[in-house]
Amino acid sequence: MNPNGFRNRYGPWAVVAGASEGLGAAFARECASRGLNVCLVARSKRKLDAELKTIVDKYSVACRTLELDLSEGNAAEVLDSHTSDIDVGLLVYNAALSLIGPYASFSESQHRDTLATNCVSPALCSFRFGKRLAKRGKGGILLMSSLAGLQGSPNIAHYAATKAYLLTLAQGLASEYASANVDVLACCAGSTATPGFARASGSAEPSLLVMRPETVARKALNHLHKRGVYVPGFANAASAFVLSRLLPRRAAVAILSQSTSKLGGTLSAGEGPQ
Ligand SMILES: NC(=O)c1ccc[n+]([C@@H]2O[C@H](COP(=O)([O-])OP(=O)(O)OC[C@H]3O[C@@H](n4cnc5c(N)ncnc54)[C@H](OP(=O)(O)O)[C@@H]3O)[C@@H](O)[C@H]2O)c1
Repeated sequence: MNPNGFRNRYGPWAVVAGASEGLGAAFARECASRGLNVCLVARSKRKLDAELKTIVDKYSVACRTLELDLSEGNAAEVLDSHTSDIDVGLLVYNAALSLIGPYASFSESQHRDTLATNCVSPALCSFRFGKRLAKRGKGGILLMSSLAGLQGSPNIAHYAATKAYLLTLAQGLASEYASANVDVLACCAGSTATPGFARASGSAEPSLLVMRPETVARKALNHLHKRGVYVPGFANAASAFVLSRLLPRRAAVAILSQSTSKLGGTLSAGEGPQ
């Protein structure tokens, strides 16, 4: 789809939840580069302001920010009302809390925040913005899932389960909203060189197996109109095919466990090697 077609279908405004750095910032910039105005949502005012400046300086679009903790119970409502004066055509829900370490090593409140940030808020944002988009007769919702959501593995058990939730939610919504001309996509990224990934793995360098956030964002937005589930990158798509279609579930979990069980007990918003 060319930039005009993209702007027509998903503009004039995109809301990116979790947009102050990493993949979220890449999504926001990619939307801006296609002529969409963007509303950036995250907790850090300093990073939001810096990202807003980058976008306004580089692309001639309007940009606004909202400081919001998406683990709050009323986050979807706050976001909905903060954007009630603009015509939103695209929601990208990218924020996540990733607890890396044994499940029992975290507190109940950390598990609750994980559910709130990774499941409750994207579900309720999809609910609220889904209605808005359906009413205007076009638009898109992109939910950031992960290859980790294709099976359970140690040390990222809860994170992976929340990503499976988003994957399944997006598949159902894609089908429900198709008749309203609203495209819903789950993006199952593999390892991506973001600050969150660097905190979890110790490296921020893209490589053959670690994609650049800009590439993931560009490919995912290109794929949005196809709806359903999308795995960016050939190596990721091949490993998703082998793990989820060829191998028995037990074997897939055992293979993944070899890498995820080595991850340390770090608390991060990114994730470790797939
Ligand atoms: N990087 C990877 O290897 C990888 C692989 C597969 C899937 N993913 C998925 O891609 C998404 C982005 O990952 P990333 O690596 O780019 O993460 P990141 O670098 O840690 O960035 C996360 C973004 O979300 C925001 N955020 C986190 N918690 C929030 C909260 N409670 N309320 C509001 N904003 C919040 C952060 O901003 P503030 O801290 O300012 O709030 C930041 O802008 C996640 O959904 C992740 O699961 C990542």
